[in-house]
Amino acid sequence: MNVLMVSPGYPTEINYFTRGLAVHGARVFGIGDQPERELPPLVREHLAGYLQVPSLLDDAAIVKQVRAWKAAQPLKQVECLWEPGVILAARLREELGVPGQDVAQAMLFRDKDAMKQAVAAAGIRTPKHQRATSAAECQRAAEQIGFPVIVKPIAGAGSADTFQVNSRLELDAVLARSGHVHEVNVEEFIDAVEYTFDTICIQGKIVYWNICLYRPRPLTARQEEWISPQTVVLRDVEADHLAGGREMGRAVLKALGFQTGFTHMEWYRKANGETVFGEIAARPPGARTVDLMNYASDIDLYTGWAEAVLHRRFSSKLERRYNAAIIFKRAQGAGHIRHIEGLDRLQARFGAHIAAVELLPIGAPRRNWLLTLVSDGFLVVRHPDLQATLDMADAVGTDLHLYAG
Ligand SMILES: Nc1ncnc2c1ncn2[C@@H]1O[C@H](COP(=O)(O)OP(=O)(O)O)[C@@H](O)[C@H]1O
Ligand SMILES: [Mg+2]
Repeated sequence: MNVLMVSPGYPTEINYFTRGLAVHGARVFGIGDQPERELPPLVREHLAGYLQVPSLLDDAAIVKQVRAWKAAQPLKQVECLWEPGVILAARLREELGVPGQDVAQAMLFRDKDAMKQAVAAAGIRTPKHQRATSAAECQRAAEQIGFPVIVKPIAGAGSADTFQVNSRLELDAVLARSGHVHEVNVEEFIDAVEYTFDTICIQGKIVYWNICLYRPRPLTARQEEWISPQTVVLRDVEADHLAGGREMGRAVLKALGFQTGFTHMEWYRKANGETVFGEIAARPPGARTVDLMNYASDIDLYTGWAEAVLHRRFSSKLERRYNAAIIFKRAQGAGHIRHIEGLDRLQARFGAHIAAVELLPIGAPRRNWLLTLVSDGFLVVRHPDLQATLDMADAVGTDLHLYAG
């Protein structure tokens, strides 16, 4: 069974999904813009073939190249777990006559305005929102919705070019800064705690689901470099205060007609208990969240997903054993990592509750924290008790220091 994987080796998590497909018996053909020799060994050894394309953004050229790729025929399935490639994968399916999500369906997971329209049409609470393509339209939308508003790209990711705007004056400043973004969504600002609802589905049926808590909200984490952002996989997903999110998650998947694969939804819970839709993507959450979900239940969702999409089966036994928190660290100073302080003490304190340590080594250049949430590395802690997990995560935030120079 030949399966095409778009971008099989990037980002890091995709390596394991690619391997998962091979483990479950697929012949995996990859397309990507990396040269084959630069693919991680783990991916290379599980690929039956690889096609390097000049750009993953040129859909028409790629369709032609894949069609002419004899070794990969007949293609039974096209998969993509990387946000910018989701539409390309849908186009390939349409053009090559492969079943699965088509372009119209995929657009509902990519275009934030179309997404919210479809979700709102099903009676689900979304922030008030308007599309805008000029500064004047933005101002008008903001006046109508009422300040504060959020201004963000129609198809953004990682909170890039996303701003909270509190007044007309601030909007002028933001518009001057985002001249390179052609179309934006102006939204009602929702003051709330932010969660995820993530699933693996088979033909419209949820076979695995998860809720994460973000600490703090992603937009806040992106505004202050000193913050060590956390994502927390929650053990007690049946808690009362999460009921609105669970129901919304199911309703959104139904409204958008999602069939098979991974989904990642974000939702907001206001202090008065109201639940508001954030966004949804037809792919797994990024920033190592799949690893975090694995740590929380001692399962392997990489092969679990592959089994679901290939064989329409999810045979992993799900036991929610732990809360699991990932804490991303940003070094102080610019340049190369010079010194790491506090790790020994944290390891002595928390011992086996620390599930993973993946910090940049001494001498490595710092990563751009605005471009990658993983920043200069992370720790994962886990514990059956939520408060114990949060306390450990906060200690990693305050007591672990990376210094660059
Ligand atoms: N309407 C809103 N009200 C409050 N905060 C928002 C709103 N929309 C976005 N944000 C903040 O901005 C972040 C990024 O926006 P999001 O729509 O999730 O785009 P992406 O994650 O694709 O960049 C969110 O995680 C949230 O913290
Ligand atoms: Mg988001």
